[in-house]
Amino acid sequence: MADNKIDILLLGAGGREHAILCKLAASPRAGRLYVAPGNGGMLALAERADADPESPEDVARFAAEKSIGLVVIGPEAPLVAGVADAVRAAGIPVFGPSGKAAQMEGSKRFAKEVMSRAGVPTAAYEAFTDEQACCDYVRKFGGPVVVKADGLAAGKGVIVASTTVEALAGVHECFTAFGDAGSVVVVEEMLEGPECSLLALTDGKTVVPLATSQDHKRALDGDRGPNTGGMGVYSPVPILLPGELEQMVEIEEKVVAQLAAEGNPYSGCLYGGFMLTKDGPKVLEFNARFGDPETQVVLPRMKADLVECFLACDAGTLDPAMVSWDDDWAVSVVLASAGYPGPYEKGKRIEGIADAEALDGVTVYHAGTRLDDNGDTLTNGGRVLNVTAVADTFEDARNKAYQACDCIAFEGKTYRHDIGIKAIKGRANL
Ligand code: AMP
Ligand code: GLY
Repeated sequence: MADNKIDILLLGAGGREHAILCKLAASPRAGRLYVAPGNGGMLALAERADADPESPEDVARFAAEKSIGLVVIGPEAPLVAGVADAVRAAGIPVFGPSGKAAQMEGSKRFAKEVMSRAGVPTAAYEAFTDEQACCDYVRKFGGPVVVKADGLAAGKGVIVASTTVEALAGVHECFTAFGDAGSVVVVEEMLEGPECSLLALTDGKTVVPLATSQDHKRALDGDRGPNTGGMGVYSPVPILLPGELEQMVEIEEKVVAQLAAEGNPYSGCLYGGFMLTKDGPKVLEFNARFGDPETQVVLPRMKADLVECFLACDAGTLDPAMVSWDDDWAVSVVLASAGYPGPYEKGKRIEGIADAEALDGVTVYHAGTRLDDNGDTLTNGGRVLNVTAVADTFEDARNKAYQACDCIAFEGKTYRHDIGIKAIKGRANL
């Protein structure tokens, strides 16, 4: 049989990218694997590519030079910078939307306008370019609101304000602290309910929903403390009411169809962040990529050849039959550096990863790690490791993940102890 392996370049350096890389490496189609920039765990599976992941020209140059057969874009910054466009223009398959379609994440106002034209439920909103007009609106509105910087702000540009005073401070922060990302500010109605993430693969026409998952965004137990990139996650979400999944899928299908009808087709992963309100699921946000840490519980449960899926998203040949699911549960706990999401120290030696992975069903995805000259693993970021367990029941997956967390040691190791607790208690207790 002819060798149909292809060499692959994956952009990114987080736990999400380590999970994607593990799944790509398991495909019979995977040839040589390259990462830019990668992390300590990813470099066990792939070579570091000499390319700047946020430079469209540099990524396209590297991909052409190495005869890469698929470029996979993990984070939002390269997408919004137009890396997918440059790679496509070079005739190379790429997983990820064009810079214009990535505005679904890159501009909250753009996303709101598409949602409005597609007729999908989301929080009522107004967009402002003038701070005074925005403050007047917030005062007139009176009640709790959510204030959002329009552009990419690394998860920091959203202020959930229960009082007008907090909202006004948030408006000022958005207009002053986020540069261009805050030149437009969106004020929206505060929604209530549990949150649910639904990632979907799409080739611009067909939408293949992946399993549901739920992130835990606050730094401390009991959903206290500042917002983070995500401190833990599980999949699937056991608290959905009948019909909610179908409604979320329909919303994503409508948005993909709307973008295609507007001449702005979207291919790649569309991440819908939903609030499950008493009036049904409403969109909080769309992201133009896989979620982090959602990917770390969704991909291990997915039965699919990820290389084939990604190529099909690019080629317009995605078929729902390419993806199926194991009837199991996954829980992932983020081990972070003390101080995160504020300032933290780096360079602490990590021990015990192999012991954790010796437990049945446990995989430790690296996020902020690097290897030193001896090949030892050191901390190199705020979110350090994603300790993930897959098991037949939610309780087993949760217990196994925490048992694995106990195997790992580094100075300043911190984590939440209540990942998944609310889901076990059920919808009425949320
Ligand atoms: P976003 O980046 O837009 O998803 O916002 C980050 C987080 O802020 C979400 O995961 C929610 O917890 C919260 N949030 C965003 N928009 C709203 C809203 N309209 N109502 C309540 N909470 C929200
Ligand atoms: N887990 C949140 C995000 O990926 O944006």
